[in-house]
Amino acid sequence: MSTTADTQALLAQADRILELNDRGRYTVPTHGLYPFQWNWDSCLVALGQRHNDETRAWLELETLFEHQWDDGMVPHIVFHEPDDGYFPGPDVWNTGRSTPTTGITQPPVAGFALRRLYDSAQDNKKAKREASRLLPMVDRWHQWFFTHRDPEQTGLVALIHPWESGRDNSIDWDEPFEKVPTEGITPYVRRDTLHADPTHRPTKAQYDRYLWLVEHFRSLSWDNAQLHNASPFQIVDPGFNAILIRACDDLAHTATALGYEEIASRNREFAARGRAALETLWHDQNGQYACYDRVSKKLSDSASVGGLLPILAGLSAERASAITQRIQTLGEKVNYLVPSHDPDDERFDAKRYWRGPSWLIVNYLIVCGLRLSEEHQLADEIETQSLKLIETSGFAEYYDPITGEPCGGATFSWTAAMVKEFCLTPKIDKAS
Ligand code: DGY
Repeated sequence: MSTTADTQALLAQADRILELNDRGRYTVPTHGLYPFQWNWDSCLVALGQRHNDETRAWLELETLFEHQWDDGMVPHIVFHEPDDGYFPGPDVWNTGRSTPTTGITQPPVAGFALRRLYDSAQDNKKAKREASRLLPMVDRWHQWFFTHRDPEQTGLVALIHPWESGRDNSIDWDEPFEKVPTEGITPYVRRDTLHADPTHRPTKAQYDRYLWLVEHFRSLSWDNAQLHNASPFQIVDPGFNAILIRACDDLAHTATALGYEEIASRNREFAARGRAALETLWHDQNGQYACYDRVSKKLSDSASVGGLLPILAGLSAERASAITQRIQTLGEKVNYLVPSHDPDDERFDAKRYWRGPSWLIVNYLIVCGLRLSEEHQLADEIETQSLKLIETSGFAEYYDPITGEPCGGATFSWTAAMVKEFCLTPKIDKAS
């Protein structure tokens, strides 16, 4: 693709950030605040890396999957090197792995990333080798989800910790969090607030509950056969499920290309069941999808970006047009799409992590979904606003959707990777 001088300058900055955060076999999200390998960060970073160095991009995924658990789970953090700057570290999780990891998972973007790496590969021989190695591992992770997080076989999977969603302090969790106690947690000192403005981060009340859940799961020896039913927090998040559905579709596509028919048909089936079941999460009044709480058996009224992400899963024309309209309406309330929560909600907070700010990774996933549904005009608008944020505010973790102010950590890897995706991946490939 041809690029203007301005775009080239942005791409050069993105490259510098990816280099700065490169630890050889994996990339940290940003130095200081997040000094280890995060699951979905790495997969999205690999998408950015593929534009310069396919070998490095494959390595990012390989390193992550080297730490897959025997039961198939791929953990949310791999603690490759000790670092006291982060809490809760390996001693709190105590999962008993030789290279320590956490005991929960994260949005499964690996299948989505794998397809893109494979489809755009210049070195086809290497791509075939790498994809053939990774395919069965991603497939095992997908099977793990439907075995351990969908015990009643609804077609949708539940999160048992807000950190699994990636949207740590979303307004979506406020009500379900009332059922999570805080009594008896070990006293702790947070480190995140030393690296980022505390007003941009989750509150202490939320951290207490994050920690209670970790200690509860630890007391059950991280046995995934028990954790789902033993958790007071069991949320079916439409955004998370949409990512999984899309990853299943993409894995099936790559598996077919490589002749792995069993993997292809299993994942096709997961995706079809999931897409049908997503319909149960439609919230008519909000005009978007909503989270379902398996403990209270209630559909949430919270209108977060988690309810817009299903566009990524490939929706009916009716649902796709409703989501498009909903994002357009949000666009009348903010200057930089897509806010993580509806600004009309009194709990909206423009700077606090997932309670309002816009995130480039979410924008990218929504753009891919909009292009899939041929909603190119809105997709173009989101891409333009995303790049404007970078030009004016740098490569931050997230942004105030009204003022564009940078929030959270700086020099952020996945933000850099998404700039590369926005600028270098042809629109048609974002639709596939
Ligand atoms: C954190 O520590 O803020 C992370 O989001 C947990 O994954």
